[in-house]
Amino acid sequence: MEYKNILFDVEDGVATITFNRPKALNAMNAETVAEIFDAATRCKEDDSIKAIILTGSGDKAFVAGADISEMQDMRPSEALAFMEKGHETWRLIETMPKPSIAAINGFALGGGTEISLACDMRFASENARFGQPEIMIGLIPGWGGTQRLTRIIGMGRAKELVMAGVQIDAQRAYDIGLVNRVYPADQLMEETKKFAKKLAGMPGFAIKMAKHSINFGYDLSLDSANRLETECCAQCFSTDDQKEGMKAFIEKRKPNFVGY
Ligand code: CAA
Repeated sequence: MEYKNILFDVEDGVATITFNRPKALNAMNAETVAEIFDAATRCKEDDSIKAIILTGSGDKAFVAGADISEMQDMRPSEALAFMEKGHETWRLIETMPKPSIAAINGFALGGGTEISLACDMRFASENARFGQPEIMIGLIPGWGGTQRLTRIIGMGRAKELVMAGVQIDAQRAYDIGLVNRVYPADQLMEETKKFAKKLAGMPGFAIKMAKHSINFGYDLSLDSANRLETECCAQCFSTDDQKEGMKAFIEKRKPNFVGY
């Protein structure tokens, strides 16, 4: 697929997907969502890609939400299809057996916050702003903002953002656990790439099992979730990286991981 709304680049095992509609503050139309789905599928299927970064072009916005001009005259059935495709795409990123980081370089509003919530980690620039302002245009979030946001920051805080459309800055987002790290704007990409490259060099199967156990254990009972974790942990003992990691520890040297 040829991309018109995103950039796709791979370097040292790290794929970077860049939302690239700066004139619309990288707002996502249906075409953009289809392109992200395609790029995420490439990331999943290409064994040379070990980690993924999502970011926005320009210095003002990560993603300012779903494209309001495209949604304005949608019928409910069209809106349903648009929301379903977004959910399918975010879920692909969320369940991908590889780590993902959203590098949030400015406004992350509505769908912008929502796609970042499907990533494993969120790193923000000091000028980032978060929010679910859909209520201001007569909507509610349609891409996971009432669900993933609630799970990450808790019901009371999520209701403040979703029901009152309150926006928060990067420091507040850090304080409530919405973002993992905050960097000065000119250091965000460099630091995110450094971290993603580190993840790309780690035991890939163990990362896959860690993500699987956290993602799929979250909604289970504690007993079922602990059982899932036990099985995921045991499966790591089938890998070369487990043998190498433990051998290197005993021999007091750095491990040479191969990713499986
Ligand atoms: N959709 C379409 N275009 C958008 C957009 C969006 N979500 N956000 C910004 N733009 C466009 C503006 O229309 C404007 O275009 P023109 O230059 O052609 O007029 C351009 O981007 C620059 O925007 P502003 O002039 O508004 O820039 P600003 O600095 O004054 O304000 C902003 C920035 C606070 C982010 C403001 O643009 C804004 O509030 N945007 C909308 C945010 C929003 O409501 N997002 C939620 C969308 S709904 C959603 O996401 C639903 C869902 O859950 C699936």
